Order: sequence, then structure tokens, then C-alpha cells
Amino acid sequence: MARRKTQREAVVKFSTPTPFSRIPFRLAGNGARAILRALSSMPASTTVPVSGNAGRFRPTNTVPEDIARRIAAAHGTPAYVYSQQALEDRAAEALAFPNAHGLTVRFAMKALPNATVLRLFERKGLHFDASSGHEVRRAMFAGIAPQKISLSTQELPADLTPLLRAGVLVNACSLAQLDAIGTALPGWNIGVRINPGRGSGGTGKTNVGGPDASFGIWHEHIAEILETARRHRLNIVRVHTHIGSGSDPAVWQEVSTLNLALMDRFPDARTLNLGGGFKVARVPGEKDADLQAAGAPVKAAFEDFAARTGRRLHLEIEPGTFLTANCGVLLARVQDITDTGEAGRRFLKLDTGMTELLRPGLYGAQHPAEIVPADAGRAPGSAVHDYILAGHCCESGDLISCAPGEPERLAPVRLPAVRMGDLCLIGGAGAYCSAMSAKNYNSFPEAPEILLDPGNTPRLIRRRQTLEQMIQNEIPLA
Ligand code: LLP
Repeated sequence: MARRKTQREAVVKFSTPTPFSRIPFRLAGNGARAILRALSSMPASTTVPVSGNAGRFRPTNTVPEDIARRIAAAHGTPAYVYSQQALEDRAAEALAFPNAHGLTVRFAMKALPNATVLRLFERKGLHFDASSGHEVRRAMFAGIAPQKISLSTQELPADLTPLLRAGVLVNACSLAQLDAIGTALPGWNIGVRINPGRGSGGTGKTNVGGPDASFGIWHEHIAEILETARRHRLNIVRVHTHIGSGSDPAVWQEVSTLNLALMDRFPDARTLNLGGGFKVARVPGEKDADLQAAGAPVKAAFEDFAARTGRRLHLEIEPGTFLTANCGVLLARVQDITDTGEAGRRFLKLDTGMTELLRPGLYGAQHPAEIVPADAGRAPGSAVHDYILAGHCCESGDLISCAPGEPERLAPVRLPAVRMGDLCLIGGAGAYCSAMSAKNYNSFPEAPEILLDPGNTPRLIRRRQTLEQMIQNEIPLA
């Protein structure tokens, strides 16, 4: 796929106390062009593509090679590296979602709950979706106002009442939750999460709607919802649905219309939350959701609803993946190279794996990989090999190179000949990577997180965990 040359010229400066600190260098002119030339000449499978609207790829998410080397020297590997510019651009795209009578974009913080990211999104005007009481507290620790946090959870927290009294919003996700909230806070304004009867996910494991999904209140139980609400004098002011991650846009559309029809049953509801689930293209061949195309018919449907009922509904969406997936890479190092003979496989063993990136092993998710030679002077040779990228855990399932949707099937990637010690950038690692991993398995410490600011200065936003921190809650007996 052709790569657009949109890399900005930037003066790069390191703020960390490393041998490289205070050595500004200019990523401009020939330097930048050389990096872009190298990127654009690599086979598609070796690059870190970044999504834009409607399936286009753009390289803004790629961490330039020199920066990757300097981050590795300063902070070690593995490390997550996020682009502030990319995060802000995605926030702006989400905030432009078509709407008829007002829009709130909630960041599904489960995708990337680092405090710096939450604050950055809050400054851009986003609100937040939390999936547990702990996430609510985490957002509040980061300085997010409770009024900007909405809780849709599978497990009500023990401290629900003080959280709600502080201003946190809640969507009851089951009839029992509705009853519990009504018992604790009769007369409260609440939302209800409905399972609209259809779901759609990029994989079976990310489909959270329809008869096989336990999420939300089944759409045929609305009479019970209304009866429970009446008993506790609850006002249902919001209706919420989320049908899956990586949803088929056509199903998302269809469900949006179904949801709007449900609003007739909830006369006090002023807000309809249509969840997240917008697809993101991490590798060529995958397609980004086009938010403008997805939102236009929804906007029209809200207008029709207003014309028919006089109710001007507020729209909420709550993307996680869309806002973060392609805004981050995982920077790792090739720490071993093994093979299983002529007819076998060549393995690149990275110093990362399911401890930082569980999605391939869990879903057969595809993440692009790019090799950065350890030595800046070494040009990639003409020889290429098919490699399997393997993780560092003692688990055959700890694989990065697996077939789409088939975590157990190996799918090699073709790369210029790799040497031990080379760096590897794994793309699409902003969402559900740092947030969702087999943390501390094999006692590998939690990796640091780094934010590249708009001037491309790497800023440490989470330290690497120490062994002491890993075991601090153990109580050795005898
Ligand atoms: N709202 C609710 C209630 C959710 O449960 C989720 C995701 C979202 C919004 C955001 O969905 P998104 O826009 O990120 O698709 N771990 C998986 C995805 C499962 C997420 C579960 N809920 C992944 O790695 O792709």
C-alpha cells in the first residue's frame, strides 16, 4: 500500500537524563526524508501502518528509527510509546461525529487508562466510560471530575453510593443492578444498558450483543425495567448499548435504528449512548471505520425522531479502540533467533510478548511489525526471510505472528534479515495492550509507557515496574 509522506519536520530533544539528553537533533530535511524513503520502500508487512479515515494509512504513528533507538537506550525495552499528536487528532475526529442535538464523546478508558492519557483527552473535551468502580476511582485520581465519568459495569462496586452521590453517572447493566441502585438511591436519575438483540465484533470474543452475550438487559425485558424503576421511583434518563468491538458498520447502523425505536418506551430518556466498537485498521487490508459515514444516518434518524416525538435526544458515543489503537507502538528488542531446520521456521524471540501484547494470542489479532537495526549505520540488506515473531514467555501460545482470527496458527512475516539486538516496533499497540496483558507472567515486570509530545520529545508517563513492586503484597509464611 502506498504510504503518504506526511511526517512532520520536527526538532527532537530528549528530556530524560541519558547520554542523549540535551542533544537536540533535527529530524528534518535529508534525515526525515531518508527515514520516509526507508519506510516507504519496505514491504507492507514490515511497516507500522497507521489508520486515518476510510481505510487510508498514514505513517504519523511510526516512531522514527533514531527516536526508537534513543528511547530504547534511555528507558530499555520493552516499552510502550504513544504519540500525543495522534491521540489529539483522533479525539478531534471523534468529536466531529455527526449529531443532531448535541454530542458527548466518552473515552472507554479500559483501552488505555494511563492518567496522562486521560488528562490529555479531558483537555480535548472528552468524557469517560468506566467499566468498574476501580476505573472510576482511577479516573478521579487522575483529576477527572466525577460528573464526566459514566459507569457501565459487570460488577457493581461496593462504594457505588458515594461514587454516585459524588456525581458519577451509572448505567444499570442488569435487572439486579437496577434493583440494587434503586434500593440504595430511590428516585435517582440513571441509565440502562440494553442488549438490543444483535451484536457484532471483529471476532467472536469481542461481540457483546445478541442472545449469547450477558451484557446489558435483554431488549424483551423492558416491562421489567419499567416496573423496577417505578418501584424505586428511578428516572431513566439515558439508554445505552454497546454491541461489540470492531463491529460491522452495517450492523452498528441497524442497531442504532433499533435503539432509537426503543426510546419510545423510555419517555424520560434524554440521551442515547450508542457505545463504541468502531473498527480500526492496524494492518493493510483491514479497514478503518469512517465516522462521518457511520454518523450521518444516525444524525438523520435523531432528526426524524425529534420531528415525530418532539424529543431532541443527546447523542453519546464511547470509543476506546478508535481513539487509541493506532496512536501507540510497542518497542521491543530481538533477544534471540532460533530455527527448526530447513523445512521449519525461523523465530525472532522478542523481549516482549503476552506480558505486553495479549491480543494476538487471545483473538488472533494482527499487529504490524517493523525492524529497526540496532546500528544506525546499517542499511537493511536485500536478503529477506520469513520470520515468526515469538514472545518471551514459556508458552507456545505467546505468539505475535499468528493468522488473522486464528491464534494457534503460525503466520510468518517477511522481513529484511534481522540480527540479534535489533529493535522491533509493533504497531497498533495503543488500545488494550498496556491495559490488557498477562501482566507479570513469568515474573516479567510491567513495561514503561512513554508519550512522544508534539515536538517528538519522549516523556516517561509510567516507570518500569521493579521486582520489589511485583512482590510487595506477598506475605511469605515461615
Ligand atoms: N463501551 C463499552 C461498554 C465497552 O464494553 C467497550 C469495550 C467500549 C465501549 C469500547 O469499545 P471499542 O471502541 O474499544 O471497541 N479487548 C478488546 C476489545 C473488547 C473491549 C470490551 N469493551 C480488544 O483488544 O480489541
